[in-house]
Parts: sequence; C-alpha cells; structure tokens
Amino acid sequence: MHASYFVQMIDTSLTMLGPGVEILTEIMTELGEKHARMGVESEMYPIMCEALVYAIERATGESFSSASRKAWKEFFAGISNSMIQAGK
Ligand code: HEM
Repeated sequence: MHASYFVQMIDTSLTMLGPGVEILTEIMTELGEKHARMGVESEMYPIMCEALVYAIERATGESFSSASRKAWKEFFAGISNSMIQAGK
C-alpha cells in the first residue's frame, strides 16, 4: 500500500518542482506531521531514499549515471527534510 502512496507522491512532487515548490513544501509539511503521528522517525527517511534510488537504478539500467544518483538524492533530501522538520 505504501509503495503505491509513495510513488504517487514522488510523481506529484516532481511535477511541482519550480514554481509549485512552495505548495509542495506545504504538502510535505502536512505529510510529515501525519507520518510523525504514525510513529515514523527521521532515521527512517534515508532508508527510503536508498530504496528509491536502488529501484530507479534497477529500472533504468545503464542510463543511470552518477549525476542521476546525485539529482535523485538531492530531490529526496528536499522533500524528506520538509517532512522531518514538520515531524519534530
Ligand atoms: C519522502 C518520503 C515519504 C513519502 C513521500 C511518503 C508518502 C506517503 C503517503 C502519500 C502516504 C498516504 C498518506 C495519507 O493516507 O494521507 C503515506 C502513508 C504512510 N507512510 Fe509514508 N511516505 C514517506 C516516508 C515514509 C517512511 C520513511 C515511513 C516509515 C518507514 C512511512 C510510513 C508510512 C505509513 C505507516 C503510512 C500509513 C500507511 C497506511 O495508511 O496504509 N512513510 N506515506
């Protein structure tokens, strides 16, 4: 169930980068509060990041470069930082 929520939210987040980033931050703040209430702790987010990067690397194969890895990690750090801060 979470895989589906997670991928949908990643997809939505990607479309909101740029001019929509302030609204994205608000959405992530609400989502972070909700996750904290469900018992999700900040240490769990980097594990999710590793899983996401691993899955994308497996799916895209040789076209996945070190620049791709860096970009995905930066993107994930951005959205998860908003969630983590909101959960504190
Ligand atoms: C950037 C990271 C994450 C994103 C984008 C994300 C996204 C979501 C979304 C969209 C939902 C559904 C919320 C709703 O029903 O309103 C959800 C639920 C949930 N998430 Fe996450 N999540 C993230 C990280 C995590 C982590 C690290 C954990 C814990 C290991 C976690 C555990 C859960 C749980 C337990 C639920 C409730 C599932 C359910 O109701 O079946 N999430 N998440």
